[in-house]
Amino acid sequence: MALFDEIIEQWFCENGRSLPWRETKDPYRIWISEIILQQTRVNQGYQYYLRFIERFPDVKTLASGSEEEVLHCWQGLGYYSRARNLHQAARDIVEMTGGVFPDSYEKVRALKGVGDYTAAAICSFAYDMPWAVVDGNVYRVLARVFGISTPIDSTKGRKEFVALANELLDVHHPALYNQAIMDFGALVCTPQSPRCGNCPLSGMCVAFETGDVNKLPVKQHKTKQVVRYFNYIYVRANGHTFLNKRRGNDVWRNLYELPLIETDRELSAEEVYAHPALREWIGEGVSPVFTQLLRGVKHVLSHQIIYANFYLMELPASVRLMPGFLLVPHERIQDYPVSRLVASFFEKSDLTFG
Ligand code: ADE
Repeated sequence: MALFDEIIEQWFCENGRSLPWRETKDPYRIWISEIILQQTRVNQGYQYYLRFIERFPDVKTLASGSEEEVLHCWQGLGYYSRARNLHQAARDIVEMTGGVFPDSYEKVRALKGVGDYTAAAICSFAYDMPWAVVDGNVYRVLARVFGISTPIDSTKGRKEFVALANELLDVHHPALYNQAIMDFGALVCTPQSPRCGNCPLSGMCVAFETGDVNKLPVKQHKTKQVVRYFNYIYVRANGHTFLNKRRGNDVWRNLYELPLIETDRELSAEEVYAHPALREWIGEGVSPVFTQLLRGVKHVLSHQIIYANFYLMELPASVRLMPGFLLVPHERIQDYPVSRLVASFFEKSDLTFG
């Protein structure tokens, strides 16, 4: 019987996807694609990749862009630290080499935001170096084909899978082999409803033989999700609104958002209207008109579930500035990078330019 790598590569040559970052050996482009695809599906990442490369075609252009522009290009993709790290890494590369992308595994791995997986992907795809990629697809394929039940999120599991992946790697064609196993995991050996009936590996697949396909891979624990309650206040005052740039070590750092009251439980509309934060913002003696716009919007992040309510607060034209907030004319709101949650509010409400 043909070997694992031969079967996978043969399958890929007949069925692999043709994707723009596979048509190039430019390490910069491969790096960008891998960072985008870290937490984003190919379908969604595709257009972002094309737009990003068009706006920032090389390391130097990215390094000389502003963080705001980079975040704007990233808007809607989530996990914004990826964009901040990309930008910082581009600046580091320019500082170190004048803009030449690093060409050793160690130097690539040392870039901000690049872990073992991404370094292996860049070095194998761009330079054909013999590093096996081990991502979620690879864990799943190997766990099933070789019947491994060691949890993939344990130190022991990670070591075992990395060792096996490197043993299986076709050292003569690392780029081809790595692309092949990842696509195989994405298209055939999928998390749900894998296509075992049409799988060229089913003859050697332990999980297929033992009926354990749906039990593998094993994870030892699910990460706990924190629940948060956001009350966003969309302000209208004399053709303007107010935005805030998020700071600190929290979600959406450096993105803009509407004035926010975060609470540890769901508040009624009346409780929000009476909240002391509002008085601090607008001062005493001002009588805003409140309207509830959207309620119970659920926004799921990797470790958090955010329940968001959106309110309109209309202020008299004479109102003073809200301290600490940015006064923004309605027609300029689109210039500011915002989270997907806030962007989808703008899309759903017709109020932005009202
Ligand atoms: N996911 C992560 N990297 C990928 C790649 N190069 N092609 C397809 N899917 C991916």
